Amino acid sequence: MPLRVEPAVKPLVCLLGGTGFVGGHLAALLSAHGYRVRIPTRRAQRHRELRVLPGIELVDADVHDTAALRALLHGCAVAVNLVAVLNEGHAGGFEDVHVKLPRNLVKLCGEGGVGRLLHMSALNADAARGPSRYLKTKGEGEDLVHRAEDLQVTSFRPSVIFGPDDHFFNRFACLLRMPAPVFPLACPSARFAPVFVGDVAQAMLAALEDPRTIGQRYDLCGPHAYTLKELVEYTARVLRLRRRVMGLSPALSRLQAAVMGHLPGKAFTHDNYLSLQVDSVCDGGFPAIFGITPAALETVVPVYLSHRDQRGRYDEYRQRARHHY
Ligand SMILES: NC(=O)c1ccc[n+]([C@@H]2O[C@H](COP(=O)([O-])OP(=O)(O)OC[C@H]3O[C@@H](n4cnc5c(N)ncnc54)[C@H](OP(=O)(O)O)[C@@H]3O)[C@@H](O)[C@H]2O)c1
Repeated sequence: MPLRVEPAVKPLVCLLGGTGFVGGHLAALLSAHGYRVRIPTRRAQRHRELRVLPGIELVDADVHDTAALRALLHGCAVAVNLVAVLNEGHAGGFEDVHVKLPRNLVKLCGEGGVGRLLHMSALNADAARGPSRYLKTKGEGEDLVHRAEDLQVTSFRPSVIFGPDDHFFNRFACLLRMPAPVFPLACPSARFAPVFVGDVAQAMLAALEDPRTIGQRYDLCGPHAYTLKELVEYTARVLRLRRRVMGLSPALSRLQAAVMGHLPGKAFTHDNYLSLQVDSVCDGGFPAIFGITPAALETVVPVYLSHRDQRGRYDEYRQRARHHY
């Protein structure tokens, strides 16, 4: 096997969305592999834990501001874009976050000599056929970054991602802890192949270091597919809660979305309902090029979900994950 020669100084990476769920894991991984990483955030004081990682520079900046984004990219060889919203709100609409930002990013990468982009899309993102505005705009953003000239782009299209701090199992855990014997669940038959955040981050790192991935789009799924009802029932079992998960009909699912979409926090909206009309599962296995055997959720989820002292377990998990990286 040929020896891989690591460059002495790794390039500076601008990691947009580096304070988020996936971003935190990718930042830790890049840091552990000797990369210098610049992470913009609108709320630096909330993410002080990132500053302790070697090589991480946390910058107070809004990536939607062109001048700020230009300054952020200065001196970087690589940009990674993880910024997205599941629902439209005061922080930005789908079009602004999923289309305008990537368009601006590509333009500024060209002007600033940034030659490599890793772009996070989503499984089923499709500008023409996406069933929801989320998936349509994610597809539009993905297509436009791949059309960019003089930019080496790789994009990633994961199913739902799990891991400490995830937005899926933690959210259902929170809802299931509410004392009610019956849990009404919209779209119970929607299917997912949840993929571990550590595997997603490893794939992104591998892509960064492997020129064969340039120009490619990778669907990322875990090893097994489940219905939403199975995943929520599993969450209840891990939490040792006796809840009857009651699947709602399509009409009642839409009604739940209509009601919850108007409540603060928008836990479930009509657009979310539309996204769930297409199964979030992959045709093949995890892309062979990354050499990763994806983790089964059963080996990871109980570690961070089943303990009351979530923060403590989370920190312990992160330590172990960093050690592993
Ligand atoms: N999580 C999943 O299950 C999943 C599944 C499929 C695809 N994805 C994709 O993976 C990527 C990362 O997802 P994630 O779950 O890690 O996201 P997340 O936790 O919600 O993080 C979002 C990040 O974007 C930044 N951001 C900048 N401008 C924003 C704006 N206007 N509105 C909201 N956030 C803004 C936030 O930074 P500050 O708040 O610090 O400024 C934060 O770092 C996204 O592209 C998402 O579509 C995720």
